[in-house]
Amino acid sequence: MPASSLEQIVSLAKRRGFVFPSSAVYGGLGSTWDYGPLGVELKNNVKRAWWKSVVHDRDDMEGLDAAILMNRLVWKYSGHEATFSDPMTDCRNCKSRPRADHVFVAQKGRDPKGLVEINAAIAAKELKCPKCGSTDLTEARPFNLMFRTTVGAVDTGDDSGLAYLRPETAQGMFVNFGNVLDTMRRKLPFGIAQIGKAFRNEITPGNFTFRTREFEQMEIEYFVRPGEDEAAHQAWIDARTQWYVDLGMRRENLRQREQEKHELAHYAKRCVDLEYRFPMGWSELEGIANRTDFDLKAHSRSPENPDAVGELKYFDQEKKQHIVPYVIEPSAGADRATLAFLCDAYDESLVKEPAAEETTKLRELVHSFMKSVEKRDPKQMDPAVKERLVAAADKIAAALPASLPELVALSDDADANRIEVWKKVKGAAERLAEDHTRTVLHLHPRLAPITVAVFPLKKNEPRLVEMARSIKSNLQKAGLRAVYDDTGAIGKLYRRQDEVGTPYCITVDFQSLEDHTVTVRDRDSMSQERLGAGELGTSLRGKIS
Ligand code: GAP
Repeated sequence: MPASSLEQIVSLAKRRGFVFPSSAVYGGLGSTWDYGPLGVELKNNVKRAWWKSVVHDRDDMEGLDAAILMNRLVWKYSGHEATFSDPMTDCRNCKSRPRADHVFVAQKGRDPKGLVEINAAIAAKELKCPKCGSTDLTEARPFNLMFRTTVGAVDTGDDSGLAYLRPETAQGMFVNFGNVLDTMRRKLPFGIAQIGKAFRNEITPGNFTFRTREFEQMEIEYFVRPGEDEAAHQAWIDARTQWYVDLGMRRENLRQREQEKHELAHYAKRCVDLEYRFPMGWSELEGIANRTDFDLKAHSRSPENPDAVGELKYFDQEKKQHIVPYVIEPSAGADRATLAFLCDAYDESLVKEPAAEETTKLRELVHSFMKSVEKRDPKQMDPAVKERLVAAADKIAAALPASLPELVALSDDADANRIEVWKKVKGAAERLAEDHTRTVLHLHPRLAPITVAVFPLKKNEPRLVEMARSIKSNLQKAGLRAVYDDTGAIGKLYRRQDEVGTPYCITVDFQSLEDHTVTVRDRDSMSQERLGAGELGTSLRGKIS
């Protein structure tokens, strides 16, 4: 069963060392996350798979790692200083600050035609504050999303040292177009790929790592002759879709959405979003845009740009003239892709029905939790929070024992944890889940944080331990991510590895001591085969490539 809520993914991610809330010892910093030991492996594997596919496996691509801090003029001429903003309005009644375009879409059922139409609707009292319902809203003003910082030891108080943390990696590739072209002796079409951090002071971050203020992008700028742009664009749309599918993402959870004319950025001729069916609904995973010659022209010396030192153009040998190439930009998020692969891989099922009386007892506990929530004074708990908790608990109670995983996922909920009886619900749910459910991450073997785990059948049998440790070391030497574990019974160790997506587990038993064979268990089919210890490296490498 796939995750029915993002909370199930968040709960597993925290429990099993994929992602932790950042700065938790000081109460955290809203919507910032740290990748833990398994999360960093998974995200690195996603980035590695992307790099291999778009740089190493192709003949028309080069890599780049540009600086995060760039000359402020880059952001002036890219248009970010003037236009990279969200329109915000202030509610004079409840002092909240919603995004005016979101309010417009929610209340009018369509996108606004710019700030002017939003402000006309606000002036006509047609829009209401989504929090308190008041129509007393201020005129919407653009709020720039770029993080500002100061370069240099002295903050002079003016803007002379002003720099921005880059809000996209793309500009680093545009301004290096000439360097890559010249040093690598490239001919059109060719592209530049880059992975790196980007920062945006998002007004509404959320949905776990889906939208954060600090994130990583995996972007490509692919330069083509004007006239060849449309075919190249379509080829990239197809190639990028196939990349996700080749790494195990289910096709039915992935779709291409053509942006409508009014959604297109001012520089884009066409843009197709690859969307994934996240537990919270279809949402953007990657945007693939035809940016025409906008960016190379914007950073070239011209009457509009007297600050640039030269022109970013290409000498076409055939036509014996300079041209400005068009750019196709497949722009993906490393964090979003990692989250999508996690969601897609997640599978939780009830392997054994708990006894009827155990389920009844748990349901009664959930009902007493609901009663405690309902009794809470509105001063102690916001009515909206009460409503949310009661609705979630009611839905779960009705579907027990099948909804056990959702109940376990709710165990971290900060509001639920303020209710005393919740501790009992949590304890009982976790005990039942431990014995009756199986969680598996069906990650593609190339993405899995650990490729193979090696166990001795008995940890107090030195010969089994020694052989298991030696097999693990040989697998490491063969370039595989291998770990050794003897901290539980074999069944429990399998379950732990299933939960973090390890595709293969090896058990060293007494037969191994005699014939040098071991059992290799497959995570997805749970089938086991006996293989010679000496052939493990080659066999497993073959399976994951
Ligand atoms: N250079 C084009 C560009 O940056 P974008 O649609 O703003 O386009 C591209 O961003 C991708 O970067 C998105 O599809 C998403 O995967 C990722 N991304 C953007 N903002 C993000 C955020 N706040 N948190 C996480 N990922 C984000």
